[in-house]
Amino acid sequence: MGALIHPFMLRTPEEIQLLASALEPGIRNPHRAEHGPAEILGDFFTGVILSGQRVLELGPGHYEFCEKIRAQGASAEAVELDLPVIELGRRRGFKVWPGNLTQLPELGITGGFDGLFCKGSNNPFWFYGDEARLRAYIEVMVGLVKPSGWCWIVSCPYSKLALPAAEFARWLAVEAGICRDLGFQEWRIPHKAVASYYGISYEHPQLAVFTRNLPVHGWSAASWVKFPWFGLRAVLRKLGRKFHS
Ligand SMILES: C[S@@+](CC[C@H](N)C(=O)[O-])C[C@H]1O[C@@H](n2cnc3c(N)ncnc32)[C@H](O)[C@@H]1O
Repeated sequence: MGALIHPFMLRTPEEIQLLASALEPGIRNPHRAEHGPAEILGDFFTGVILSGQRVLELGPGHYEFCEKIRAQGASAEAVELDLPVIELGRRRGFKVWPGNLTQLPELGITGGFDGLFCKGSNNPFWFYGDEARLRAYIEVMVGLVKPSGWCWIVSCPYSKLALPAAEFARWLAVEAGICRDLGFQEWRIPHKAVASYYGISYEHPQLAVFTRNLPVHGWSAASWVKFPWFGLRAVLRKLGRKFHS
């Protein structure tokens, strides 16, 4: 059913086989639907003309966002550490900079991008306890973009250390503070259903989208129509699972 509304992103048996050995389970999943990028572009990029822009995505997964903006005339590049994901991007004609995001300054990426997009691929807990390193990471990220260029970033906060809830929340607040210092706007995701609508994995109620040089989030007419249906389908799927268990 999901595929009828949002096509799956792995389109051939070869792509499914390639991604079967991806590091992340979500990326191995051939039934992952292409949900999120169109809705993000509709609600966060009002009036932004992507045609002719050079855009960098950090951790592209199935390249949903790269594909969408290429269709609008942008040229998309990506940074990725997982070999099957790198190969998928190259087969689809994207320039992929191989490497680990934690070593962003050493990857030799040619900056000057018009925009940078990161949905769930970076993690502030990579630098837990070292605010200076977290700040340096975010500064390097921003530095890849022209001063007038845009950024759209949402992290995937996950800590290997079992931190008390208050400490986990404090570190997210540290990330938010650094982003604010660097001129980002913060849009706190109001509910996990909204996160899911944008294809964001909802890890914490403090989870926020950080944007720079982009319009303030606004619900587009398309989202006013689509979101209630999206919510209804999610409820029906949940009920269906309950029924079958
Ligand atoms: C959770 S997926 C998100 C994919 C896509 N942005 C989306 O929203 O569907 C994380 C992506 O980032 C990549 N990734 C995770 N950690 C990374 C790291 N340290 N360096 C580079 N890429 C990383 C993964 O291989 C995967 O492609």
